Amino acid sequence: MGNVIVVTSGKGGVGKTTITANLGCALAKLGEKVCLLDADIGLKNLDIVLGLENRIVYTLIDVVNGKVSPQEALVRHKVLKNLYLLPASQIATKEMVSPNDMKSIVKELIPNFDYIIIDSPAGIERGFRNAVAPAERILVVTTPEVPAISDADRVIGLLENFGFSDENIHVVINRFKPHMVRKGEMLTTDDIKHTLSLEIIAVIPDSEDIIVASNTGVPVSLNGNSRISKNFENLAKRIRGEKIPLEEDFATVSKSFLDSLRDFFSKFKRG
Ligand SMILES: Nc1ncnc2c1ncn2[C@@H]1O[C@H](COP(=O)(O)OP(=O)(O)O)[C@@H](O)[C@H]1O
Ligand SMILES: [Mg+2]
Repeated sequence: MGNVIVVTSGKGGVGKTTITANLGCALAKLGEKVCLLDADIGLKNLDIVLGLENRIVYTLIDVVNGKVSPQEALVRHKVLKNLYLLPASQIATKEMVSPNDMKSIVKELIPNFDYIIIDSPAGIERGFRNAVAPAERILVVTTPEVPAISDADRVIGLLENFGFSDENIHVVINRFKPHMVRKGEMLTTDDIKHTLSLEIIAVIPDSEDIIVASNTGVPVSLNGNSRISKNFENLAKRIRGEKIPLEEDFATVSKSFLDSLRDFFSKFKRG
C-alpha cells in the first residue's frame, strides 16, 4: 500500500521534476522496480532530466487515445534497467486527459511495479487533479521561502479536502541553504514543520550538482561522487518505511554548518 506517489507543490519551479527523477533513481538503485509517470502534459521535462528524450516513441496521450497500452509506451532507463518512464506529450493539452484516465493507467501498471511516481504540473487546475487522482501518497515539495510555503499550505488544505489524511502527505524541503539558516536569513526545518503541521520527510540542499545534472541528463543520484545523492537515498529509504533521522540529511553539508544545525535542533528540542 502507498506505492503510488505523486510529487506536487503549490508554487512552480521548486523542484518537483528533479525530485521525481532522483527519487526514482534512488529507489531503483535499492532494487525496486519503478515507473515514473510524467503528468506535466504540454511541458514535459522529466524525459530530459533522465536523458531519455530521444528514446520516446509513444506518450501518455497515445495511451489515453487507445493507440497503445501503458506498457507499450514505457521507455526503459539506459543505466538502471528497473527504472521506466511513461512520457508526457509536448503537443497535447491537459484537457485531453481526465482523472479517470490516470486512474485506469496506474491500475494497469501497478501489478508490474513496486513504485509508481507521478510528476505533477504546477498549479491546482486540471493537470494537478489528473496527477493526484491515482495517488495513495503525496510528496509536497517546497523551498524554504515564505511564498512557496504559503502555496504549499494551500495545496495541503486542498489535498485534505480530496480525502487524503495527514499520514499520507509528506513535505520535502528543497534548495535548503544552511549558511542562510545559520545567519537567521532563512526559515529552519522546524519553522516549516510548524507552519504546515506535517512531517518533513527529507531536506535536499541547494546544490550546483543538480543544475549540472539537469543539463547533462544524468540525475545526481547516479553520480556516486555527488554528496547530495545520499539525500535522495535517505528519502528513498524513508519511502520504503526505514527510520532514518532527518538530521542525517545534513551530513552532506560541511562540518561547520552541521554544528550550527545541531545547535538549532537542540534548541528546538529543548523549547
Ligand atoms: N536542490 C537544488 N539545488 C539547485 N538547483 C535545483 C535544486 N532543485 C531544483 N533545482 C533547479 O531548479 C529548477 C526547477 O526545478 P524543477 O525540478 O524543474 O522544478 P519543477 O518541476 O517544480 O518546476 C531546475 O533548473 C533545477 O535544476
Ligand atoms: Mg516540473
